[in-house]
Amino acid sequence: MTDKETLLVQKAYEEVDKYKEQVDTDPYRLNYHLMPPVGLLNDPNGLVQYKGTYHVFYQWNPFDTAHGAKFWGHYSSRNMIHWREEPIALAPSEWYERNGCYSGSGVEWEGKLYLFYTGNVKLDDGTRETYQCVAVSRDGIHFEKKGPIIKLPEGYTAHFRDPKVWWKNGRWYMVIGAQTVNGNGAVVLFSSDDLQSWRESGQIAGEGMNGLADFGYMWECPDLIRLDGKDVLLVSPQGLDPSGHFYNNLFQSGYFVGTLDYESAQFKHGPFTELDRGFDFYAPQTFVDDKGRTILYAWMGITDENESSHPTLLNRWVHALTIPRELRLHGDKVYQRPIYELSLLRKERVEYQNVELAGKATQFNGVVGKSVELLLDSLKVKNGGFRIRFRSEAELFYDSDKPEISLIRKNFKTGEPERRTCAISDLTQLRIYMDHSSLEIFVNEGEEVFTARYFPKMEDETIVFYGKASFCLVKWDLDRLKIQRYKS
Ligand code: FRU
Repeated sequence: MTDKETLLVQKAYEEVDKYKEQVDTDPYRLNYHLMPPVGLLNDPNGLVQYKGTYHVFYQWNPFDTAHGAKFWGHYSSRNMIHWREEPIALAPSEWYERNGCYSGSGVEWEGKLYLFYTGNVKLDDGTRETYQCVAVSRDGIHFEKKGPIIKLPEGYTAHFRDPKVWWKNGRWYMVIGAQTVNGNGAVVLFSSDDLQSWRESGQIAGEGMNGLADFGYMWECPDLIRLDGKDVLLVSPQGLDPSGHFYNNLFQSGYFVGTLDYESAQFKHGPFTELDRGFDFYAPQTFVDDKGRTILYAWMGITDENESSHPTLLNRWVHALTIPRELRLHGDKVYQRPIYELSLLRKERVEYQNVELAGKATQFNGVVGKSVELLLDSLKVKNGGFRIRFRSEAELFYDSDKPEISLIRKNFKTGEPERRTCAISDLTQLRIYMDHSSLEIFVNEGEEVFTARYFPKMEDETIVFYGKASFCLVKWDLDRLKIQRYKS
């Protein structure tokens, strides 16, 4: 580490020491989600299983609850339930990253762990520079920066970032999120034999391709994965206009399913599909583990006007990652399911078989709580609709006449109800993860997912069911993740 880096890291831990007790008193701290020790967290980065251990890095501003010069925070785990907070992996100390070690990915090669990330530089005249950089580790904990490996190619603005690297057919590949000089989002493919020297293969998606003339002004955090014999490009476009039930958050995250010809760098793909239908989901990233699962984490937040109104800001922290979800492809649709390890968090179980809801507001003995998994199986909704109200603060509503499903919560700034909706032809199952201030709702085995933060009154633990429906109901209380804190 350079002296500058050592100093920055030291300052970050001074901030952690100063505020960690206050952060821990916050009633909205989550039980089973990864959060920053203090300050702001955004994208998951560098997801990888390295020598058997899972590593989750994240964009972190330890000094403020707003965006700034990002560090890479770091957690590691053998089972994604028991975690260790590891020392800061990257601090923005060098000239090529002085305004942030921005998002990127991790891969193992010849026993070493390589992190690829974007060095973000803002010049005094207001312009930006961007460098794709690499750092290497022999133990997965301490990283040596090797500096920039890719400079900005022709045809793109300095909004060129978030390298995601993978291995295919004996070579390394990388996708980078980009903005073309015409002001349109795009994804650019590179390849390498040694992770050090990279060749630009060309733009594979975005501006002008596959009929996408005008589809956002910048595409962030691309990720090219293989599911069920197809290539799936995950990407987070900025600047899509709302259209009916689609694109109602400020920025989106979704995917294109198709086939990438690695030789000619041609990606033929279908339409864009949103990955999440709730309010707080952005910059997802995946990795493949040694069981062959493709696992996704996302930022359970988004850069929008709500960000500055989170009540947790008062206690010096903001945002968290989603729970880990396994991805599968059904036809051309990505399904997300909570990984099975999360069942290790289950404590007390309450079950009600063959419930017949006849229209009245109903509560079930023992079906209450702040940190809960709810399963509604063999669900049949009769005409009209069906609603679940969570702690008097948010509501899931299935309108079987339309048929569509909505999540309604209060806007953090105005307190007014706001709604996200999507079509669901037949509602048969709901799996709902409630944490102290979050909801993750998996509809029909993960066909659709609603992810949202919400801030109920702490004493309110009610879960109320309304409407006409029949189902089997199981509720588990969920334990905390075990996290071993890092001692500076
Ligand atoms: C997405 C993003 C990335 C960038 C990072 C900076 O949320 O804007 O494009 O690398 O966050 O923190």
